[in-house]
Amino acid sequence: MADSKKSASAAHVRRGDDCVMVIFGATGDLTKRLLMPAIYNLAKAKLLPEKFALIGFSNIEESSDSYRDEITSELSQYATAKVVDPKIWDRVAKNIQYTSGDFKDPAAFIHLKEMLAEIDKQIGTPGNYLFYLATSPVFFGEIVKQLANAGLTTEPEHRWRRVIIEKPFGRDLESAKALNREIGTHLEESQIFRIDHYLGKETVQNLMVFRFGNGIFEPIWNRRYVEFVQVTAAETVGVELRGGYYDTAGALRDMVPNHMLTLLSMTAMEPPTSFDSEAVRDEKAKVMHAIRPPKKEDVARDAVRGQYGAGTVAGKPRAAYRSEPNVDPKSNTETYAAVRLFIDNWRWADVPFYLRTGKSMAKRVTEIAIQFRRPPFLMFRDTSVESMVPNLLVIHIEPDQGISLRFSAKIPGPVVSLGNVDMNFKYSEYFHATAATGYETLLWDCMLGDTTLFQRADMVDAGWRAIEPVLDVWGEQKAADFPNYVAGSWGPAAADELLHRDGHAWRKIE
Ligand SMILES: NC(=O)c1ccc[n+]([C@@H]2O[C@H](COP(=O)([O-])OP(=O)(O)OC[C@H]3O[C@@H](n4cnc5c(N)ncnc54)[C@H](OP(=O)(O)O)[C@@H]3O)[C@@H](O)[C@H]2O)c1
Repeated sequence: MADSKKSASAAHVRRGDDCVMVIFGATGDLTKRLLMPAIYNLAKAKLLPEKFALIGFSNIEESSDSYRDEITSELSQYATAKVVDPKIWDRVAKNIQYTSGDFKDPAAFIHLKEMLAEIDKQIGTPGNYLFYLATSPVFFGEIVKQLANAGLTTEPEHRWRRVIIEKPFGRDLESAKALNREIGTHLEESQIFRIDHYLGKETVQNLMVFRFGNGIFEPIWNRRYVEFVQVTAAETVGVELRGGYYDTAGALRDMVPNHMLTLLSMTAMEPPTSFDSEAVRDEKAKVMHAIRPPKKEDVARDAVRGQYGAGTVAGKPRAAYRSEPNVDPKSNTETYAAVRLFIDNWRWADVPFYLRTGKSMAKRVTEIAIQFRRPPFLMFRDTSVESMVPNLLVIHIEPDQGISLRFSAKIPGPVVSLGNVDMNFKYSEYFHATAATGYETLLWDCMLGDTTLFQRADMVDAGWRAIEPVLDVWGEQKAADFPNYVAGSWGPAAADELLHRDGHAWRKIE
């Protein structure tokens, strides 16, 4: 980490640097559902800067007063806390302003610059600006260019200018590289914070502590002991109102190069030499570069795509994907993707990493399951035990955060027979963790200049490179069997086949 801000002693935890945050896309879905609740949570935790102001920037015409009223009423709907404490929120809200403008209009950025200078004068913020690009990706390059042209990206001495960029970062390797080049002409890498909100989740961060802060796991965390790893990110929701975007992206693009490979890299990385952000990011990048992209001719064997047809999810009827709003009725876009990947390094050679993600699935769950090799049967051969179940370690990320370990135990009685038991650690039971959006840590880190949990340009490239052949083949060849899974199920039958061929099976998640 950049400094000791995260020391165990709460008294020493530092607030974010005094700054003004500008949200581009301030009237959008992300802002109201996640960013504002996260800002409230930071204020409640006393991590928001002493001097803090926020400017909302969007194309809707409205006054600062009406914007403030709007987000205040939305906050009561979306806050993770049961009740919003008006004393805490009012202190934040009084320094919120709004400006309407088009992302392509230079005059709007000159006006923004004047507003920033005025706020600095009024409340004493020192000229540190955090620009949050909560917009469609088509505007990322444009907004950075406009900021630069308005003179808002150059960092005066002892002042910072940082830009948080939402996902998706590009739609393939080439466009991600082009975007990196484009923003790189205006910003230093240290100013760019490419967000992957999975990294804001407590359990994902805990993965490093679990692996490297405990002596007993690291010696067995390798190909000698691990049979395979499964990463699941299943959603019960369909595309809802995001059909327009989703139909041009699909499950693979939307989830795998970013979120799922982030989970994979946290699971598979080598121990960094320190908690320093570059040391951690170096190790994550190294393992991502070591992922062997499947050959184009192997895509049919190593990847499975699916699209949901009509079904029932959580007891309610769900229309087929092709009947959702803003979706092409003949759409070839996948709403489910599963891939088998290998990491070409000494620790993981030949260990399959199976990733699956989908919409309108049976259950909302994100987890990493590490299955260990079966112990030798030897001592049980003259007993009634017929088979032995391997140990399984599951890192639960959503909806309940925790870690569980499955092992065999003797069922009480005179006959030797084995049962499987789970040792369960639930965050909520041990730490009484307060509900959060996942964006709190990331916003706070950005205010402190800590890049550990953000994607570096080379990591983004490595993520796209790993799945590029699958994107190419799926783009070139139409799926012959869409829709091929029923909404509310665990995906297409071919995804089961992907593992059966290796003698494995997807974990049944109840
Ligand atoms: N929503 C989520 O839960 C979520 C989660 C993770 C990541 N993200 C990412 O966050 C980003 C934003 O998503 P979102 O769902 O919040 O999108 P959104 O609801 O469409 O919000 C975009 C905002 O930008 C405004 N806007 C559009 N064109 C503009 C222009 N030319 N000039 C000025 N303002 C303009 C929109 O105003 P109008 O509505 O008036 O056009 C709207 O307020 C995306 O990159 C998305 O992938 C979203």
